[in-house]
Amino acid sequence: MNKKRCQADLESKTNNDYGLTNESSVQPDLRVNLAGIELANPILAASGPFGYGHQYRELFDLSLLGGIIVKGISPEPWEGNPPPRLAETTGGMLNAIGLQNPGLEKFLKEYLPSLRGSGTKIIVNVIGCSVDEYAAVASRLDGVEGIDGLELNISCPNVKAGGIAFGTDPASTGNVVSTVRKQTGLPLLIKLSPNVTDIASIARAAEEAGADGLSLINTLSGMLIDLEKKTPLLGNTFGGLSGPAIMPVALKMVWQVAGAVKIPVLGMGGINSARDALQFIMAGARAVAVGTGLFYNPDLPAEIKEGIADYLQQHRFPDLKSIEKIAQDPKGEE
Ligand SMILES: Cc1cc2nc3c(=O)[nH]c(=O)nc-3n(C[C@H](O)[C@H](O)[C@H](O)COP(=O)(O)O)c2cc1C
Repeated sequence: MNKKRCQADLESKTNNDYGLTNESSVQPDLRVNLAGIELANPILAASGPFGYGHQYRELFDLSLLGGIIVKGISPEPWEGNPPPRLAETTGGMLNAIGLQNPGLEKFLKEYLPSLRGSGTKIIVNVIGCSVDEYAAVASRLDGVEGIDGLELNISCPNVKAGGIAFGTDPASTGNVVSTVRKQTGLPLLIKLSPNVTDIASIARAAEEAGADGLSLINTLSGMLIDLEKKTPLLGNTFGGLSGPAIMPVALKMVWQVAGAVKIPVLGMGGINSARDALQFIMAGARAVAVGTGLFYNPDLPAEIKEGIADYLQQHRFPDLKSIEKIAQDPKGEE
């Protein structure tokens, strides 16, 4: 095709051909549907750092979040790991909390009631040491008022399989997902571990077993050594690395998984700004979650929301759908 013809073709295309809007003053639509859950905006609080929302309620109006994913809940209370449980790293942190939690019944009685009126969607992160434990939590939560979805943390060790995490193998992933699927009609997200060789094969196994969506990434396994004591720094020896240091790893995995499945993806891992969040959406995420960033900047969700809206408006995109997965096409926006 000659240069003149190309130019003419380009000029004959309207903004609408690219899904763009001519109205730069129109407020972009930030609503998204994540695995059947209608979110007012695509920013969620990731499971763990947000606890059950209490501390953050004093810092900002929880309804500004698209959703809250509460800290992992098991059938019975878990005590967690011995201290030290937290350590700073360059650009991130290591945690070895050990999924300490009050157990399902205490969560329902003492924590859920105040979350119900928070004006945002509530997703419960489910943990277990066996397939039966995951199934028990899912079944008990099915139909409970105020719960909009479940997120299965499959990074937990499978005690019956010698402590190997459920999410490190497609077969055990498929087994836990299909068992839980039978117990609940709630939207079911599966939280993938990055500590695997081929995350796309785990993602496909979860999709085939009935997942409605995938969230990723969980923390990356790591450790530090105390130079004075000459021993591992964390009480549990190993911990999970999170925060800005892991962002490019997480982004790559979101890109790989979004290219491998049809169900929507919730992207997370080191998100620290609207620019980070936009990259996850362009890589294929439907929505994003912030975890560690909340520890040092509680204004992060508001800043991300505003930054995404500004970007869409400046680039005249009417909604998030227009940029979701756009970077999967090597040509990007032509
Ligand atoms: C202190 C802490 C506790 C966490 N607890 C959970 C948990 O209970 N369940 C879970 O699926 N992920 C848990 N995570 C992982 C986060 O949800 C998230 O996947 C990870 O930290 C990467 O995101 P970030 O870099 O924005 O923190 C925890 C992370 C941290 C730092």
